[in-house]
Amino acid sequence: MADYDESRLTVVDHPLVQHKLSILRDKSTGTKQFRELVTELAIFEGYEAMRDFPLEDVEVETPLEKTTCKRISGKKVAIIPILRAGLGMVDGILTLVPSARVGHVGMYRDPETHIPHQYYCKFPPDVENRTCLVVDPMLATGGSLTAAIQFLREAGVKDIRCLTIVSCPEGVKAVLDYDPEVRLFTCSVDRCLNENAYILPGLGDAGDRIYGTK
Ligand code: URA
Repeated sequence: MADYDESRLTVVDHPLVQHKLSILRDKSTGTKQFRELVTELAIFEGYEAMRDFPLEDVEVETPLEKTTCKRISGKKVAIIPILRAGLGMVDGILTLVPSARVGHVGMYRDPETHIPHQYYCKFPPDVENRTCLVVDPMLATGGSLTAAIQFLREAGVKDIRCLTIVSCPEGVKAVLDYDPEVRLFTCSVDRCLNENAYILPGLGDAGDRIYGTK
């Protein structure tokens, strides 16, 4: 039994997600396929993360008759990738919401202390009126994600949903304890962090695997 509040955590564990995640984890999976899988998994996660979007009626004329259908009612979305690995998830979410705006948070982890440092932050001007989907494939210590949540709260954002592909209990607890409203979507909560703050079993360095930099 986890010791964090699980009600704001959704593990997206559809069989297709689990299948694709296994290929993603495999060290023999190459850059091109890794990138494609990150995009596909972001689509599955985005689908779940927007499941509660409100609908309104709309009149539509089919080739046969008029009918009442549904459309999403007034939800505006911003995608907030945490640089650089988060960029790998943006196209997947844009496939679902082509009108979404994209803001960026640039963070790097000090290799010694593992503490995140911000070097860039730019949000769309009306970010406070948008549902913000913060994307980062790996939730390790939670330092980057909690910093991104802090910047968004300071900008007045009310609806924040975090989407990660692989998490660990330490990171999940850090994020959910940090902000009492935020919701978290992930494909897996792995075992633990190692001494270098990498997730076990994990998939290695997501940024390096997306961009082929190692
Ligand atoms: N970032 C990664 O890319 N991988 C991890 O395991 C942890 C943080």
